[in-house]
Amino acid sequence: MPSIRTNLTKLNQKAPVILAIESSCDDTAAAVLKNDTILANITSTQTIHEQYGGVVPELASRAHQQSIVPVVDAALRQAQIQLSDIDAIAYTRGPGLMGSLVVGTSFAKALSLALKKPLIDVHHMHGHILAHFINEGQAIPSFPFICLTVSGGHTQLVVVHSPTNLEIKGSTIDDAAGEAFDKIAKIIGLPYPGGPLVDKLAQKGNPDAFAFSKPQVVGYDFSFSGLKTSVLYFLQKQTAVDPDFVEKNKADICASVQRTILDILFKKLELLVKDTGIKDIAIAGGVSANTGLRQRLMDTGNKKGWNVFIPKFAYCTDNAAMIAMAGKFLYDAGIFGNQSQGAEARLPFLRSWNQ
Ligand code: KG4
Ligand code: ZN
Repeated sequence: MPSIRTNLTKLNQKAPVILAIESSCDDTAAAVLKNDTILANITSTQTIHEQYGGVVPELASRAHQQSIVPVVDAALRQAQIQLSDIDAIAYTRGPGLMGSLVVGTSFAKALSLALKKPLIDVHHMHGHILAHFINEGQAIPSFPFICLTVSGGHTQLVVVHSPTNLEIKGSTIDDAAGEAFDKIAKIIGLPYPGGPLVDKLAQKGNPDAFAFSKPQVVGYDFSFSGLKTSVLYFLQKQTAVDPDFVEKNKADICASVQRTILDILFKKLELLVKDTGIKDIAIAGGVSANTGLRQRLMDTGNKKGWNVFIPKFAYCTDNAAMIAMAGKFLYDAGIFGNQSQGAEARLPFLRSWNQ
């Protein structure tokens, strides 16, 4: 059976050009894809939120409004195409912050009307997962594969049967893994977003220095809110004795927290692999940029004989290239959006296009 990539490459001559827009949180992004190749990928990251210790939705939507036209313009220039070359417009319809999503959604709908080109509404997590198929010469997973999707809003175990048939096997019952990184980083006194900083500090620390409580959740679901509380109580107790405890032990705290988060993730991932027998294992989402997670996936894969798929850094955190790639698969399947669809902050993942 020819691989997905062979099929895509054969189509190259009449490959559609897809413009994609991503504005679900605090990155305004646009990308241009031709077939499975990215011609442009532009992201404008909003730095205004750093001073508030988290994303301020009102400020995020205002910044999207300011950036969206320049970002799309820059993407068209980088791709060396005109608006008239675009065959379809893909956009992130949800989930995310409503005020942020509305900017990208309205822009995409207006452009679709003006150019008389079809709209493709994309689920943000669908984009994260299908980013693995952006062609940069790397190996791609075979179907079915398991994807551990770990971002600031989601933590899921997904069996990907095909690009348009995805089965969620487990999800977090409270905080997402990225949220756990960010909230614990805040307790330690690190600025937002704390995940990458915990990662950096953890590289210099001892992962066995401190033990934190782990959740007892049945099946393939996850929980991270207990860990956050466990770290908070532990640090309150320690700083009562030594006010400089956090400062003196920052790297060890980060390494121990990161190790606990990875233990929680891998316990369920390994269980699902054992139960399904699937050996192609991918990670996706912002937390897949974590060096500890990437290393642990490689080590576990080597030990257990898995084929592991790790996205390149540019496609881990939010970007529009992944929305374009998901848009391309939906385009090929003839699944389009329409002008009466609005942004949805809690857009469900499983939809009627599963086939
Ligand atoms: O996918 P993403 O960019 O946005 C959402 O869809 O939520 O993920 C953002 C999340 C944040 O929580 C951020 O702290 C986390 O990904 N993150 C990391 C790392 N890089 C980003 N967490 C741990 N280690 C990293 N290196
Ligand atoms: Zn994301």
